[in-house]
Amino acid sequence: MDIAKLLAENSEKIDVYLEKYLQTDEKELETLYEAMRYSTLSGGKRIRPFLVMEFCRLFGGCEEAAIPFACAIEYVHTSSLIHDDMPCMDNDALRRGRPTNHVVFGEDIALLAGDALITRGYEMAARNAEVEPSTALAATAMLLYHAGAVGMMGGQEIDLLSEGKKTDFSTLMKMHEKKTGALIRAACLLGVMAAGITDERDERYNAAVKYARGVGLTFQIIDDILDVEGDAALLGKATHADAALEKTTFLSFMSIDEAKDYAKKLTEEAIAAIAPFDGNEALTELAKFLLTRKK
Ligand code: IPE
Ligand code: IPE
Ligand code: MG
Ligand code: MG
Ligand code: MG
Repeated sequence: MDIAKLLAENSEKIDVYLEKYLQTDEKELETLYEAMRYSTLSGGKRIRPFLVMEFCRLFGGCEEAAIPFACAIEYVHTSSLIHDDMPCMDNDALRRGRPTNHVVFGEDIALLAGDALITRGYEMAARNAEVEPSTALAATAMLLYHAGAVGMMGGQEIDLLSEGKKTDFSTLMKMHEKKTGALIRAACLLGVMAAGITDERDERYNAAVKYARGVGLTFQIIDDILDVEGDAALLGKATHADAALEKTTFLSFMSIDEAKDYAKKLTEEAIAAIAPFDGNEALTELAKFLLTRKK
């Protein structure tokens, strides 16, 4: 199985919808929409949409039900990137191989573009007509929960407050689980819900939660490592940005080799969680790919 090819095919499919749902015929709103499209349609690995599509497929759901959720999570994720790069946060000038949103459109429009993308994401999830209305409501609430103060936004706050300070390992784990893990978990669960499974006691729901924990933590550990030893041109964003801001990262607590070993163990746990289900190959290969990715 060629995971890079599968990811590319899925990106191609989802990108059509991501673009389709970011159009306006109101002349006054053209700049805002251009800013929303600029960051959304500038590449990106589309890992989260892939998770939505694959979990839906794994548990017998149809593609049409997964697509609106796949767009929703990518809009929410892109929003988090726009805000993460702003001068008041990480102050980065390059993202997805291009100047960051605020560099091109100014901070005022970048702020609005991030807000407008995140709300567009929730709207897309709530309007998903290919699932039962009660499922769309449950999925939207779940997405809001994971993006908000107890999830991604809370993790971003911990990240900002940890700059220039020594925090403990449990705070680092909490930060990673929230700032990155929460949206990855939401992506997996959106796929599960697109397949019609909303009961938290269902073994398939729980398998997705376990997979998401391993993959989500691994994702941020590798992000921390790539900031030190990655290739900025390949990553499409600056390296050595964490050290410049004295961020607390995995490498504040262990060597690169130790962090890689830790990520390997988490990846094995993720793979084990979905092992009982037939058709798990793509998600298994994705977990391995995320451990060895260079961008
Ligand atoms: C970057 O996410 C931000 C983190 C959560 C570490 P990705 O590495 O998935 O970014 P894109 O979507 O591919 O640009
Ligand atoms: C970003 O973490 C997490 C979110 C955007 C929610 P980072 O700040 O480490 O992400 P990069 O390295 O800028 O992509
Ligand atoms: Mg950040
Ligand atoms: Mg950042
Ligand atoms: Mg980073």
